[in-house]
Amino acid sequence: MNILSIESSCDETACAVVKDGVERIADAVASSKELHEKTGGVVPEVAARKQIESIVPVIEETLNKFYGGNFPEKTQVGEDIDAIAVTVGPGLAGSLIVGIEAAKALSLAWGKPLISVNHLVGHIYANFIGRNPEEIEFPAVALLVSGGHTDLIFMRKHMDFDYLGGTLDDAAGEAFDKTARLLGISKYLGGVLLSKKASECEKNTLSGALPRPMINDNTFDFSFSGLKTAVKRLVERSWPDLDIPSVAREFENAVVDVLIEKTMRAVKKYEVKSLLVGGGVSANRQLRARLEAEAQKSGVKLFIPELDLCTDNAVYIASAAYFSCIDKQDLSKTPDFEKIKPNPSLGIMD
Ligand code: KG4
Ligand code: ZN
Repeated sequence: MNILSIESSCDETACAVVKDGVERIADAVASSKELHEKTGGVVPEVAARKQIESIVPVIEETLNKFYGGNFPEKTQVGEDIDAIAVTVGPGLAGSLIVGIEAAKALSLAWGKPLISVNHLVGHIYANFIGRNPEEIEFPAVALLVSGGHTDLIFMRKHMDFDYLGGTLDDAAGEAFDKTARLLGISKYLGGVLLSKKASECEKNTLSGALPRPMINDNTFDFSFSGLKTAVKRLVERSWPDLDIPSVAREFENAVVDVLIEKTMRAVKKYEVKSLLVGGGVSANRQLRARLEAEAQKSGVKLFIPELDLCTDNAVYIASAAYFSCIDKQDLSKTPDFEKIKPNPSLGIMD
């Protein structure tokens, strides 16, 4: 089953064709990140306009790759596509609507079913790409760490989630981005650059200087906003002799310590067979390495997406659509276009 998927929840415009939820056949991504770097944050109107400019070229590029240069007659385009999938939330309303309307147009023109996908669920399903789905055994715990979310989820089976806990304030990625800005490393989405700075640290002169918020409480919740404030104080105290690589290393250690402690506690408590990680922060090298070491110790099977599947794209949207339609969404019905609309604050349990 070939699913053509569209993702436009924020500043990436993406399209993909994925076979049977796991085989990545063709995909393309356009990003408006450079525009937001200038303003130091996403301006929703600017992101939406860029989505409008990029959506058709990105779909065209994906179809070109899918047909491998052997583009069929116009009337046959889309014949090898079995369904269309689209992200309906969470995200920016103006960005989401561009992808949703494009997906509706394709569904209508080609007479194909339309599947709505939760972006957060998509991040988790990035782990199914390129593997035999049977490898991922349930029950599982999923750690979702992105710019907007830090959630721990219990998965009984496909598309069956229980919320264990999540951030009470800033998401892990947001804390990385705000700290990168505070340290003058990057004005926008500085997580990756902050992590690079941390890797330049040869000796952490600030070991233990930052708190590990909520690490010892008995919930699966997180709080990262105090950490950002503690970095601010540390910067003020040490100025002008600031050892930036050590601050970056200590900050990264603090976030990763808390994520690892709570995730592994959930793995043990629920005696799960698999641990799935997803979201932009799952690209973080220290997090990946330490999760691998912990998984080996505990015997849980660990799955983390390839680096380019950690950040926003449409490949995992098709995967989530496939596994939701073999389970929950009935494809024989005509899509109810009125019900498929942007849901900016969609949660993992909705
Ligand atoms: O999942 P994503 O692409 O977008 C959302 O759905 O939010 O995640 C983006 C977030 C940003 O906060 C970015 O700084 C962070 O992921 N990120 C990283 C790394 N790469 C991306 N944070 C820490 N270390 C990284 N290597
Ligand atoms: Zn995302």
